[in-house]
Amino acid sequence: MANDFIFIDTTFASIKGIRKMRSIIITGATNGIGYECAIQMARIAPNEQIVIACRNQQAGREVIQNIKKRVGHENIICLPLDLESLRSVREFAALFSKQSGNRIIALVNNAGIQNIAKTKFTKDGFESTFGTNHIGPFYLTLLLLPWMDDDGSITFTASGVHDPLQKTGIEPPIYTSDKDLAFPKETTENESITGKRRYSTSKLCNILMTYELQRRLVNTNIRVNAFDPGMVPGTGLARTYPPIMQFAWKNVMPVLAWFKHNVNTPQNSGRRLANLAYSEQYKKCKGKYFEGEKEIRSSTDSYNTAFQKDLWQSSIELIGIKPEETSIPIF
Ligand SMILES: NC(=O)c1ccc[n+]([C@@H]2O[C@H](COP(=O)([O-])OP(=O)(O)OC[C@H]3O[C@@H](n4cnc5c(N)ncnc54)[C@H](OP(=O)(O)O)[C@@H]3O)[C@@H](O)[C@H]2O)c1
Repeated sequence: MANDFIFIDTTFASIKGIRKMRSIIITGATNGIGYECAIQMARIAPNEQIVIACRNQQAGREVIQNIKKRVGHENIICLPLDLESLRSVREFAALFSKQSGNRIIALVNNAGIQNIAKTKFTKDGFESTFGTNHIGPFYLTLLLLPWMDDDGSITFTASGVHDPLQKTGIEPPIYTSDKDLAFPKETTENESITGKRRYSTSKLCNILMTYELQRRLVNTNIRVNAFDPGMVPGTGLARTYPPIMQFAWKNVMPVLAWFKHNVNTPQNSGRRLANLAYSEQYKKCKGKYFEGEKEIRSSTDSYNTAFQKDLWQSSIELIGIKPEETSIPIF
């Protein structure tokens, strides 16, 4: 695996040791919101190294070429990361940490899936939506914490669908326990309904983790926030939907961004995500939830500290991390 990574470029400054290199890591930047986030990062952070963390190396290479062409940022690399595999997450963190002097100024946990078809499982046996959207990013974040700049940010792309009051048309989340979510019992319920509920619940998990992690980082300047991009038609998120729905998602629904509240283009949402993670304007925001550019309250359940603690403790057990592998007390 170590030989697979692409080290496209590096800064002159870091080679010469003139200044400490700082990195921005973005997951899910090969498509949709994450891709647009990477473009905006390249604009607003010309002096930072941008790390595209992705499972598809060819797609990662193309993203780098596109960003170089469109924005001209030279210091972009791509490292392999498959959030469906704990081993891949560990290997990503190990590879990243080998770049000496590297500090993370922004970690953007944006990658995510929605599976409304047959239930799938990650390489470690977790239900795949929960594994990709919560377990993978959680593990990644803990392993990267030792390299976080004290002034850095961690941002989770969550979703308004986590809040039953928002009436998004997606089944509302049900948080029972972390273990139930990782290893769900068989059900006779319609796959699409189950899949949508798993998705909204995984997004609730992103927000529960945002608040719990921020609390545990209280003695640092690191800020942890959650971001709702709104509904963003046209991205790859609907790839398990029936073909007619996928057609509408790609070709018809983007029109809604012109007039409907909280429906956005990937460009707008990606720009806002990058700004939240990096720009000066949000430097004082800690443990907050943003709908686009606006800080709002998240759902009642997301503030439930019993849920937050249960999710934290059982996720720690599921990933099997040791205390010395991260920089905050995990128990
Ligand atoms: N679109 C919306 O309406 C909407 C609304 C609210 C929240 N969100 C959230 O926004 C985020 C981005 O979604 P999007 O709409 O931009 O979808 P997208 O176009 O499908 O992008 C998802 C990204 O995540 C990556 N990814 C998926 N599984 C991965 C894995 N196992 N390991 C590493 N990377 C993986 C994909 O990489 P590959 O190219 O390799 O598949 C892709 O780059 C997600 O967290 C989603 O839940 C989206």
